[in-house]
Amino acid sequence: MAVVFPSMRVDGQVALITGCGPGIGRALALGLAHAGADIAASEMPSRLALAEETAADVRALGRQALAVALDVTDLESIRQAVAAVQERFGRIDILVNNAGVNIVKPAFDITPEDWDLTHNVNLRGTFFCSQAVGRLMAARGHGRIINVASQFGLVGFEGRGAYAASKGGIVNLTRTLAVEWATYGITVNAIAPTYTATVHNAHLREQPAFVDYYVRRIPRGRLGLPEDLIGAVVYLASPSAAMVTGQILAVDGGWTAW
Ligand SMILES: NC(=O)c1ccc[n+]([C@@H]2O[C@H](COP(=O)([O-])OP(=O)(O)OC[C@H]3O[C@@H](n4cnc5c(N)ncnc54)[C@H](O)[C@@H]3O)[C@@H](O)[C@H]2O)c1
Repeated sequence: MAVVFPSMRVDGQVALITGCGPGIGRALALGLAHAGADIAASEMPSRLALAEETAADVRALGRQALAVALDVTDLESIRQAVAAVQERFGRIDILVNNAGVNIVKPAFDITPEDWDLTHNVNLRGTFFCSQAVGRLMAARGHGRIINVASQFGLVGFEGRGAYAASKGGIVNLTRTLAVEWATYGITVNAIAPTYTATVHNAHLREQPAFVDYYVRRIPRGRLGLPEDLIGAVVYLASPSAAMVTGQILAVDGGWTAW
């Protein structure tokens, strides 16, 4: 019997990515573009210029790109952004729920405002973006949703009370949507990165004790980089992952393996 080799590419597909500023969102946008996708790079309205930069970098790779304002906490903003992407490209094949906030505080100091913001962006935002895009995917009978969770959605860590709860919520939301939407041809998976060096957390890398602790805690022996996440996301979006759904792929250098 001839072996059929499924593609590991996403040629001609359309990917919408939330929180597409200079961090992980940008790397995932460029990674998906490099693998053949056209990109809708979205950001909060006040930070749209950052998505414009990402879109320009995507075009330099030879793919089409649209920068679109999308605040994941605002249902009307989600509706308008999804409609704009649908109008520009005619469909959305891949949704990457990447927008997130992380307020690091001892549990005794977390305020209701900290808790609500963290959950509104990370968990509620992931759900309602998935719902809005999932409806379009279901109508076409095809879709790939990839949530950016965290290793702290799988294990606990001090100072991450609100964050880890929201990421743990994303982990089980991923499984639940995967089960519910499988018959529509939609797969729903998540990646769980370890500490990944980006602009927003550069201040942590200036603390030798932090870097030393993390590097010793990660069996691979180094901090993560945004580009470490590209392979996992492209794979989960590609035809090669057609039977993979409801899974959490830790890209954590082994943090959660012990
Ligand atoms: N960097 C890490 O160490 C790390 C580790 C594990 C998981 N993550 C996750 O990866 C994702 C990206 O993080 P990052 O490290 O690139 O940080 P980042 O702060 O650079 O990126 C997050 C982006 O989300 C956007 N955002 C915030 N609120 C939003 C809203 N209401 N609507 C739309 N966008 C909004 C921000 O503008 C920002 O560009 C997050 O979900 C984060 O929790 C990061």
